[in-house]
Amino acid sequence: MKSREIANNVFYVGVNDRQKALFENIWPLPHGVSYNSYLILDEKTVLVDTVDICYSDLFLKKIAILLNGRSLDYLIVDHMEPDHAGSIRLLRQQYPDVQIVGNSKTFGMLDGFHGIKDGLHEVKEGDTLNIGSRSLQFYMAAMVHWPEVMFTYDPQNKILFSADAFGTYGTLDGGVLDTEINVDRFWDEMERYYTNIVGKYGSPVQKALQKASALDIETICSTHGPVWRQYLKKAVSIYDRLSRYAGEDGVTIVYGSMYGYTEQMAEAVAYALVENGVKNIAMHNVSKSHASYILRDVFKYKGLIIGSPTYSNQLFPEVESVLSKIEIRDVKNRLFGYFGSFAWSGASVKLLTAFGEKMKWEVVGTPVEQKQGFTPDSYEACLELGKAMANRLKQ
Ligand SMILES: Cc1cc2nc3c(=O)[nH]c(=O)nc-3n(C[C@H](O)[C@H](O)[C@H](O)COP(=O)(O)O)c2cc1C
Ligand SMILES: [Fe+2]
Ligand SMILES: [Fe+2]
Repeated sequence: MKSREIANNVFYVGVNDRQKALFENIWPLPHGVSYNSYLILDEKTVLVDTVDICYSDLFLKKIAILLNGRSLDYLIVDHMEPDHAGSIRLLRQQYPDVQIVGNSKTFGMLDGFHGIKDGLHEVKEGDTLNIGSRSLQFYMAAMVHWPEVMFTYDPQNKILFSADAFGTYGTLDGGVLDTEINVDRFWDEMERYYTNIVGKYGSPVQKALQKASALDIETICSTHGPVWRQYLKKAVSIYDRLSRYAGEDGVTIVYGSMYGYTEQMAEAVAYALVENGVKNIAMHNVSKSHASYILRDVFKYKGLIIGSPTYSNQLFPEVESVLSKIEIRDVKNRLFGYFGSFAWSGASVKLLTAFGEKMKWEVVGTPVEQKQGFTPDSYEACLELGKAMANRLKQ
């Protein structure tokens, strides 16, 4: 079994998961996901992170082959979430003398999850660990997206081991480095991964990016997806844009509809957007699109238009569910338009007004509320709403 050498004496020992349907049992994985781990063979042998426990057998085999009889000196734990820390206990059983490198928060979790209390080597911000020909450096990246997250930097190879930062869904099908594979299929998935998993933590991500910008980095080794070298700048710019909530030119339309009345309103709004020059439109029926994809597009575009029927004096439940996911991620600075329908006593438009206020979003156009059948007046009002959004985007 061969393992890819991604830099001088740094080997990829991660695994692919093509079995799990939902990451965190929530987010669809149509193209799977990889759990990345890296083995550095210097005078000391150093493993950076482990993999999901389901793959520990294969993982341990890869490590044993590369070590070729040597012992494992250090395990660096950059992140304690079980998709990476899941194999730590088994690794310790295999290599009882391995020193586990982490920060104080890592060690609290290491005890809690795995009952491991000893053989620990604690590091703080800026600390170094000499492993022979170089000293690894450690930088805390708290809340990207857990409190114990840290980055490890290899100054010899100019590699940043970045935990989940710059990660993406999608397996590594034979290749690991972005220089040896076509990476086109990862960009949309990277946006989905970021918005689903890390999206709430824009400001900690910005802090971590700032810290990383002080280092001379040629390669980024994340815990999911390709190793970034040729496309490093692009991967960083995606995380930068998303963590600033900086939407691109375009509009996401999110609507729920049972019998098609609200949907007709959404169609009219979309028609007017295009008629007034908006080219990028992502349209989601909440009952069909998984929230994972809706979130990706809500982060992608500056404009957001939401429509909902009234349902038992509330929003349509699936719309409500998407709104709560947007709210949790504290999506900032959206240009917000909205509409709704009802049959006897409308509530959805009122509730969408309250939502926009809570999010502190700029409301664009006049909200449209429609009773029972779709009237020519409602139709015109929806066209006006689309036009207002298109004009606002041009400013
Ligand atoms: C289960 C259910 C609950 C509803 N609750 C309300 C309500 O509380 N107030 C109201 O005015 N209309 C209510 N309606 C009517 C719908 O809001 C109205 O028919 C709406 O236009 C449907 O839009 P749609 O065709 O996009 O599904 C309800 C409809 C259903 C099926
Ligand atoms: Fe994570
Ligand atoms: Fe992860």
